[in-house]
Amino acid sequence: MRSHYCGHLDSSHDGETVTLCGWVHRRRDHGGVIFLDLRDREGIAQVVVDPDTAEAFALADKARSEYVLQVKGRVRPRPEGTVNPAMPTGAIEVLGKEVAILNSAATPPFQLDDYTDAGEDVRLRYRFMDLRRPDAQARLILRSQMTRLIRNLLEEQGFLDIETPLLTRATPEGARDYLVPSRVHQGAFYALPQSPQLFKQLLMVSGFDRYYQIARCFRDEDLRAERQPEFTQIDLEASFVEESDVMQVAETLVRTLFHELRQVDLGDFPRLSWSEAMSRYGSDKPDLRIPLELVDMDDLVADENFKVFQQPARDPAGRVVALKLTGGGARLTRKQIDDYGSFVTTYGAKGLAWIKVNALEKGVEGLQSPILKFFDAATIMRIMERLDVRDTDIVFFGAGKASVVNASMSALRSRLGADLELYTSDWAPLWVTNFPMFEHNAQGELTALHHPFTAPVCTPEELVAAPAKALSRAYDMVINGCEVGGGSVRVHQQDMQQAVFKVLGLSDSEQRDKFGFFLDALQYGAPPHAGIAFGLDRLTMLLCGTDNIREVIAFPKTQSAACLMSQAPGQVSSGQLDDLHIRVNAHSQASSGKSGKTA
Ligand code: AMO
Ligand code: AMP
Repeated sequence: MRSHYCGHLDSSHDGETVTLCGWVHRRRDHGGVIFLDLRDREGIAQVVVDPDTAEAFALADKARSEYVLQVKGRVRPRPEGTVNPAMPTGAIEVLGKEVAILNSAATPPFQLDDYTDAGEDVRLRYRFMDLRRPDAQARLILRSQMTRLIRNLLEEQGFLDIETPLLTRATPEGARDYLVPSRVHQGAFYALPQSPQLFKQLLMVSGFDRYYQIARCFRDEDLRAERQPEFTQIDLEASFVEESDVMQVAETLVRTLFHELRQVDLGDFPRLSWSEAMSRYGSDKPDLRIPLELVDMDDLVADENFKVFQQPARDPAGRVVALKLTGGGARLTRKQIDDYGSFVTTYGAKGLAWIKVNALEKGVEGLQSPILKFFDAATIMRIMERLDVRDTDIVFFGAGKASVVNASMSALRSRLGADLELYTSDWAPLWVTNFPMFEHNAQGELTALHHPFTAPVCTPEELVAAPAKALSRAYDMVINGCEVGGGSVRVHQQDMQQAVFKVLGLSDSEQRDKFGFFLDALQYGAPPHAGIAFGLDRLTMLLCGTDNIREVIAFPKTQSAACLMSQAPGQVSSGQLDDLHIRVNAHSQASSGKSGKTA
């Protein structure tokens, strides 16, 4: 039906007769001449229809926004003075000779220009219209280019694309499972995979050596700006490799994406141990574009009478840190400082102490702060010395449980970086390594920091004897404070796998029940292997420069995991429930009203 895409036309087509198909982006009536901006996925072309071609003119006159047209006409240069250099097709126009209305359109629910101020809820309700917007199309086109590059690169390196099941048993990645009831097996449920982790490891046991998959994963967890209940991983695994091999493949992949699609050279990927990352940034995914660091103050304040600092400084599970903002004393108003104080409380902090440096040569007299009165002058000056402060600086302090201090002060660090535009570069990739094997959850139980298939750096006996001390052979890739990928060298020996399960509190029978097939596989000659998975959505977000994951997914879900367009999840008939041997609790059904909240 068409000879060219609208967006592909330029002066090289001058004089050619072309047939275009697309949507009416805009229609203007200029004293007897009709201008139609015709849009398709590649761009917009201006079509001019004049009354000399009466039939075409009459149809063009009827066309309205978002009507679907076919236009046949001749490409010609735009008259002098009407060339639009901002538009790729801005040097030419098409003199329309024949117009066909292929379909009409109701009035769109919102304007389709790039800067539409329609709320996200309305845009998601009419996602099929929202996706017509050129910037929305550009993001999904970029995503398709990404997966093409990824496939090409991995295939060239000998990785095989192998699919793994979606209806499966639970794979623990730390989130809640989406369950699918079985009709045939009464009372039994499949779990949708949180990742293909176990299957890709089994493929290594089977000898496929190098596997990859662009895999859909499902996690029923609290959603945030960078999380969706179903998302896509670039998942890979290889046998007879170590950390450095996987990290190299992973780096090449990410470098290629940035280079090919954004002409960005990511530079070096520095490596930071988990403990150093936590100590210097309070986060295992630090944004290294921001030149601010946390400095420990425990030793300096442990003997002071200020309880707010003294207690955490003496508590092994506590922490007191300072964050110096160079020149911040001069830049920040009192109101801004107070706002940062309330900001950190959203992360559980009890307060945000601060000291402004007005005139250092006057000693404590030259400082300004609500906490000076609690301290010995000599201690204050030692704190200032450790931080190497200058006049006009401000220092923030966080004190309390280490987990709260880390969460709140790393959030403050990111917030200051964004608010005050402190970034020293556009891109800051890094690897975080040497993670602990386990962490304590809110109930005080040990849980795997990555997943239980990650190899520890010790023997099974050492692991069981001192699990909290064990480090793992895991690595995470972080770019601009976003965890884009994570992986590890795996446990490939049965006794080690059982030791990990034991630390996690799984009895022998629970191990057999949940992971019997996997433990069996490790018994039959499992090769040493390692792998990684990237969050494709997150990589796309970075390449698109958006911090909203919904913008890089064609049909995303809201924060309450609902699809506003299809109205999923939906009710099902009682017959379907009977087939599945399920009775719905009337109370929970009534309270499961769907919300359109998106952010
Ligand atoms: P992990 O759980 O770290 O590792 O996931 C890998 C990457 O997937 C992305 N990601 C998400 N993206 C969007 N929404 C979510 N809800 C979401 N959850 C995770 C992140 C993350 O870095 N099986 C292991 C990988 C391995 O060990 O090989 C795994 O799934 O970018
Ligand atoms: P208070 O004695 O509670 O009024 O606190 C005195 C100062 O210390 C105020 O500036 C508080 O914001 C700050 N502050 C209180 N709790 C903490 C904390 N856990 N970490 C850092 N600063 C705190």
